[in-house]
Formats: sequence, C-alpha cells, structure tokens
Amino acid sequence: MNFSTIINKKKNNQELLESEINWLINNFVTELLPDYQMASFLMAVWFNGMTKQETYYLTKAMINSGTTFDLSDVKGPFADKHSTGGVGDKTSLIYAPLVAFFGVKVSKLSGRGLGQTGGTIDKLESCTGWNENISEQKFKEILNTVGMSIMGQSDNIVPADKKLYALRDVTGSVDSIPLIASSIMSKKLVLPADSIELDVKVGSGAFMKNIDQAELLAKTMIDIGKQFNRKVSVMLTNMDKPLGRAIGNAIEVKEAWETLNGNGPEDLKELCVTAASISLVSNNIFNDINEAQTELFKLLDSKKAAHLLKDFIEAQNGDFSKIIDYNNNFKTNHIIEIKAKSEGYVKFKSADSLGYLSMHLGAGRETKDDKIDFAAGIYLNKTSGEYVKENQTIMTLYTNINKVEEFKNEALEIIEITNKYNKEEVILKLILND
Ligand code: URA
Repeated sequence: MNFSTIINKKKNNQELLESEINWLINNFVTELLPDYQMASFLMAVWFNGMTKQETYYLTKAMINSGTTFDLSDVKGPFADKHSTGGVGDKTSLIYAPLVAFFGVKVSKLSGRGLGQTGGTIDKLESCTGWNENISEQKFKEILNTVGMSIMGQSDNIVPADKKLYALRDVTGSVDSIPLIASSIMSKKLVLPADSIELDVKVGSGAFMKNIDQAELLAKTMIDIGKQFNRKVSVMLTNMDKPLGRAIGNAIEVKEAWETLNGNGPEDLKELCVTAASISLVSNNIFNDINEAQTELFKLLDSKKAAHLLKDFIEAQNGDFSKIIDYNNNFKTNHIIEIKAKSEGYVKFKSADSLGYLSMHLGAGRETKDDKIDFAAGIYLNKTSGEYVKENQTIMTLYTNINKVEEFKNEALEIIEITNKYNKEEVILKLILND
C-alpha cells in the first residue's frame, strides 16, 4: 500500500477501503507518514467528503490508535454528553449532577478552551488543585462513590485525534463534517456510555453556522453511533447568543453552582434540564421527556443535586471553597461596567465577539501555551433580547490587564440597542434516538 494510490482515490471520489484508512492513520500516528501528506489528504476530504462507510472506518481507526476504558466493575447505566463548543457553555457542570442524582453514571472526557470558546477542564481548574489526570482506578472509584467524573484527554486516549486536530487547525480543514464527526465520536466511543447525547451548537459562535449544516453533522454522528451499536441523540442549540450570563472560568463554575441551587438563568436551566431529560429517558429512568423535565426543574429548585458538583470536584482534589467564597477568592484589579447609551432591547453582534472579549480580558488563550486568569471574564447584567434603560449596566468586565479603555471600546462595539424585540430560542431541534 502507498500514499499516492490512496490520495488519488480520494481526489477522484473513489471509496477507500478499511485497510487503506487504517494504513493512513497507523502511519500518521507512528510518524511514518509526514504531516504534509496527511494535510493533503485532509484537504481532499474537505473538498470531496467521505462516504458513511469511510467515516465509520476513520472513526474506528482513530479509536484503535489508543486505549479504551473498561468500566465493567462500575455499576451502570452510563450516560455521556458532548457539546461542539460555545461561549458561556457550562452545561456539563449542571447536566452531570442532574443525571447522576438518578443513579445514571456520567463518565466524561473533556477538553480545554482555545480561542473564543471555553473548555470544561479550564473552568474546573479554577478550583485550585482540581486534577484532570486521574488514574483509571481513581476514575472508577469516583464514579462508584459520587456518580460522575471528568477526565482530560491524555496522550494515549485517541492519540490519532490529537495529532489530526492539531494539523487540521493549521491547515484549514477543521470545518469538514466527516472530520468533525469522526473526531467527536472517536472520543465518545472510547467510553462505554449506554447513551450519548450531542449538543450541536448552531450560529455565529459555532462551527456550524446554519441549521442545515448542523443537521448534516448530527446525522453523520448518529450514523456512526448506530454502526457501533450506541444510542445517540442530538440537540441542535442556539449559539447566536452566549449561554447564561457568565463567560469565563471561575465565574462559570459559580453560575453552574447557583443554577444547581435553584438560581440559574432561564436559558441555561432549559438546556441543562432538556439534556438531562434525554439521557434519563434513554436510560429508562423516566418514560418521556415531559415527565423528566418536570421532575428535573423541581430537582433544581430543591437544590438536592447541587452537592454532587462539589463532591466530584473535591474527589478530584479541587478546592470548592473558592467558589463558595467567590468574591474573596476571585478579585480583579479592574471591574468595568459597560452602560447603555440609549434605551431598548439588547442585541450582541455575535456570541463569538463576546468569547473573544473574554479571551482578551485574560479568561481564554490565544495560543495553546497562554496562561489563563481564572478570575477574568464577563457577567451579562442584560443579555440578548432583554430591555435596558439608558445608563443601565449591560455587562460587567473583570480583568487584571491594564487596558481599560480598549476593553470598554471593544465591549461597546459588540452591543446594539434596537427597538425590536427578538426572542432567541435556546433549543432549535431535538433528534432523539429511536
Ligand atoms: N470538537 C472536536 O472534538 N473535534 C472537532 O473536529 C471539532 C470540535
């Protein structure tokens, strides 16, 4: 087998064999296939796509490039949820306690943020000492005791994805549906979840800019799941506006904690309750989504699931008292209030632009090696669709960087005040497993 046969087949839209895809991935991971050849293959896929069968073989080859988890000594069922990434997205921190409360274990692999989108691992690290690198034994122990655990992606879990993603990132081939679908699903399928739920973000702050593209991605991931005999459901959700009011790291953990204690923003509650309902129905805890939603809204008000977030963070050595006493632990040199210049309904230029502002304030990283300031971020006193009076605060910026005027201008450019009320739905479509 050789590279030129494979690339010529892909260029000419001929379907690749499983053995050819295995050859590519194995040689790439062991560095026998150079980056420039893989980059040309990825670009050929970007233009010509992949068939359902090729996408399945690619996912399988990526899974087989590393280790998989054996959780047979943990009592299931298991549920997993993954979001394609957005601004203010702290859903996992609320979803997991809600699901674990009913005895469905949530075992997750999560990632770090890059650019305008945040990552769950960074958010959790704002609880000093929290450790993403736990052993498989410890992971199982926490699943057995608390019912939820989150790990970071190590070098031996789907190494092919780690290497491919880094190359896609610098060669313009991230936004390809078969490549995104195989990347996400390979990381979901290494864990033995009985139900997998995918939150595909749609809009200005997401990879998928419109609902048709998002549905195609959803269908591709559902098909991969079916070929591995897994139940996959998809929520298509709005990322034209940030989720909730908090954007950053510690500030998002605090918002998750408040939500679990009955005090969260409506959009965030709706999304987390719907996500948890789908997982609980898939695992036969409730008969239907409406019944599950009613019980989960009650559970949020009762605050009974909140301790699971604290217990899980502490089980992974995190100092949760930092969040409980947030104001004393996350002080910044500058607190900048951005006021409305006129009266009307708030609209943000895009969710992305708020993600970039948060990154500039110190809450995100521009490059992989940047350090995060856990106290930096944004609080949306008013969010998209809410009415504001002249001179009322629309958002508060927290930063330790001495560029106050620059940040004020950046924030003001993101805000529009209109006289038209524009309701933004959170959940655009549900595609449930059958
Ligand atoms: N998230 C992933 O894990 N992979 C992609 O390719 C895109 C988003």
